[in-house]
Amino acid sequence: MSNKQVTVIDHPLIQHKLSLMRKKTTSTAGFRRLLSEISLLMGYEVTRDMPLTLEEIETPLAVMNAPILDGKKVVLISILRAGSGLLDGILPLIPSARVGHVGLYRDPETLKAVEYYFKVPEGMEDRDAIVVDPMLATGHSAISAISRIKESNPRSLKFLCLLAAPEGIEAFHEAHPDVPLFTAAIDERLDDHGYIVPGLGDAGDRLYGTK
Ligand code: URA
Repeated sequence: MSNKQVTVIDHPLIQHKLSLMRKKTTSTAGFRRLLSEISLLMGYEVTRDMPLTLEEIETPLAVMNAPILDGKKVVLISILRAGSGLLDGILPLIPSARVGHVGLYRDPETLKAVEYYFKVPEGMEDRDAIVVDPMLATGHSAISAISRIKESNPRSLKFLCLLAAPEGIEAFHEAHPDVPLFTAAIDERLDDHGYIVPGLGDAGDRLYGTK
């Protein structure tokens, strides 16, 4: 299902795995494995329009012009720390992709994003950037990460998350109407602490077993 700039990747395998991730009884190891599996499946969809180029190759029978990915131009950018869970699942799909990182933490009082790290590859003007973070909650982290990444002028930009809150989608669209957003589900709402409900809890803590 997709409308203007939001694509909900509702493949049954993704939905099933997401439900397993949501369960509070799912172990850290299980959560990590499921996130990796889901990101691989989502990576398939988010790269659907990746540019192809023709290369002359020789099969055992003939010479042909075969489509190959212009994969060197992709940069995957992880919003630390939970973004790395999505990144790890997608990288095997695009092994030649470059990787960038944006370090942000949420100020617990204001819920605003505070940057502590930023590194992207050179030559962003020629690269298609896919920014990954599992949870689009208030949208603050994604919005500031994308604003910062835009300063490097990537050729194109997409944002991929696992779960989104309606409030986060609205804020994201308001700030970056030009950036297509991909998610596996849109949940009901945010709670008073900025967590997605029903959600899956703190993605970083569940991924790394820090709580
Ligand atoms: N970040 C998370 O990890 N979970 C939420 O529900 C919201 C933000």
